[in-house]
This record gives sequence, structure tokens and C-alpha cells, in this order.
Amino acid sequence: MSALDISVTPNEDPTPDARVAEILADPGFGVSFTDHMVTVEWTPEQGWHDARVTAYGPISLDPATAVLHYAQEIFEGMKAYRHEDGSIWSFRPDANGERLRRSARRLALPELPVEDFLATITALVEVDQRWVPDAAGEKSLYLRPFMFASEAFLGVRPSKHVTFMVIASPAGAYFARGVKPVSIMVSEDYTRAAVGGLGAAKTGGNYASSLAPQSEAIARGFDQVVFLDAIERRYVEELGGMNLYFVHDDGTIVTPELTGTILEGVTRASIIDLAGTLGHKVEERRVTIDEWRDGVTSGRITEVFACGTAAVVTPVGVLSSRAGEVDSSHDGEAGPVTLAIRQALVDLQYGRAEDTFGWMHRLV
Ligand code: COI
Repeated sequence: MSALDISVTPNEDPTPDARVAEILADPGFGVSFTDHMVTVEWTPEQGWHDARVTAYGPISLDPATAVLHYAQEIFEGMKAYRHEDGSIWSFRPDANGERLRRSARRLALPELPVEDFLATITALVEVDQRWVPDAAGEKSLYLRPFMFASEAFLGVRPSKHVTFMVIASPAGAYFARGVKPVSIMVSEDYTRAAVGGLGAAKTGGNYASSLAPQSEAIARGFDQVVFLDAIERRYVEELGGMNLYFVHDDGTIVTPELTGTILEGVTRASIIDLAGTLGHKVEERRVTIDEWRDGVTSGRITEVFACGTAAVVTPVGVLSSRAGEVDSSHDGEAGPVTLAIRQALVDLQYGRAEDTFGWMHRLV
């Protein structure tokens, strides 16, 4: 049971139904927001308090607010799915709540108990349930919980006022082209995280640091950038917003092991279990960029895919680096293992497959 007492003040000027329907018909990603948001405050004296659901809208911050200067901030990404019978569910929200706590510890932010985290998500989805798209078309309501240093103070120390919020945004495909292979450029000049750094925390700075390499990749005609380890510049880490998987010709699937520099993706972890039920042997180990390149060339690696809450399971095609280019797509399309794993995951999330792992959590 959550200890939070969440007040609800309905938006007095909610979006008209016709406009909501228009948005849900083609939501894109991260561009439209629901009618409400959650806010919870924290101070050392009071702990978590003043939990409220209010109308969605701009927040006012003092220019000295710590997060604007020192980036003491963390977030989560999760989704609410509507099932055929109209009920609304989330996928392993406790895993997101636990990861938020781990990120909080690394960023010297206060930990929000997982049951309070779940209570805020439930409260928001309950008031904004008409914003959760129909099951058809793999749309969902993307939920973005985040926590930031809200004290107005320029000294460098953990903030004594922290704010936790949840906003929600109807979501279609993360990549406009849908389930088509994305092309990837190796980031040879930039790394994402070093051992002991922030790599495993879901904090804005990791995403900020990916923007320059990501922009370079786009300027050169690629969709995404892959980061290598910061020490040897050999080991494959992640894409900056997605984890990676390699399908081998003997059916084994391999994902880079967690070394503290990679985000512990909830989708990544779920695929380890799901792929097992589909008969795949799963290995978590270090993968070098040469193994990727040579494996695709020799046929040992038959498919590569990326995964994340926003991107679900996305096939990877071209890998480009100074050493040349290889393409693991199947004539420009996704491979069969990628599609089967993707299907198993979305069937579970949309309630079309039996929830044998107990991962689904009913919200409404
Ligand atoms: C997610 O997959 O939910 C993410 O957080 C990745 C990105 C949209 C930041």
C-alpha cells in the first residue's frame, strides 16, 4: 500500500473528445500530452509529500533551480496498454520503480518507494484513461516519470528540495518507418559512459551526451549511433536509448553483459526470459565490434536487433564504421527471430498471450 495521499484536481478545460480521437489516430512519439500530470514534493524534513494530480501545464522554476545547473535528474520510460476488453495494463512497472530507486541512489536523489511510484502511475492513468489508445496498431500511452533537484541554490550538493512528476503522451511507433531495419554508425570519437560513471543510471546527462554523436550519424545518413566501451574502445555497449541483441546461426542470442556502463533495460531483461521460452539459448557477455562485423560477414550472426520501451524490438541493418560496412538485414527487412521475439513481447503486453511470468499489472 502506498503511503502517499494523492489529491486529484480535474483539468477544468480538458481536450475535446474529437481532438483526442484525432491525436490517437496518429500519435507519433512524444509530441502530444494528456490533460493531467502528477507532482510529488520531497524535503529532508517532510519526506515525500503534497502528491497531486492537476491539469497538465507549464511549471515555473526559479532560474537558480539546481537541476538547470548541475543536471541532478533521473527519469523512467514505460507504457500503458489497452487490452481487447478495454482494461488498461502496464508491463513490469515494479522493474521501472526499482530502477528509478537505483538511479536515485547514483544521483544522490531521494528514493521513492516502489508502491508510491505505482500509485502515482495508476492515479494518472485513471484520470487520463480516455488517452490510452485502442489495442489495434500497437499504440500505447507512454508514461514518463521523472525526478529533479528543485531547490533554488547554486552550491554543488544534493538538493534539499526534490520534485517527482509523471506525464503521459500517446505513442505510436518510435521510428517513423515502423518495423524496418535501422542503420547504425559506430561512435569512434565519443563514448557514452565509463566504469564508475553514470552509464547504468537513467539520467538526462547520458542522453545529452549522445546527441552530438547521434547528430553526426544522422548527418552522414544513419539512423542511430552505437557506443563502445570507454577503455578499450572495442566492446559494444548500447545505442544510447536502446540495448542490443545478436542472433547467431545456431539460434543463440547474445546481449552485451551489464558492466555498470549500460542501461539495465526492462525490455532487455524481459527478452532474456522470453527468448528462453521460444527455445533460444541466451548469453550475456562482452561482444566486440569486430565480432559483430566479422559475424555478419561470415554468417555466424544472422540478425541484430535493438530494444527498449519506446522502440520495443527494432531490427538493425547496416553497421558502418571506418573499417567498412556490413548489413545484417534480410534484404532490407527484419529477420524471423527478431520478428518472433517482438511478436511474443507485444502479444504479452496487449494481453493476447498468457502472462506466464506475471509481468502485467492492471492499472484500470
Ligand atoms: C524508453 O525506451 O522508454 C526510453 O527511455 C528511451 C528514449 C525514448 C529516451
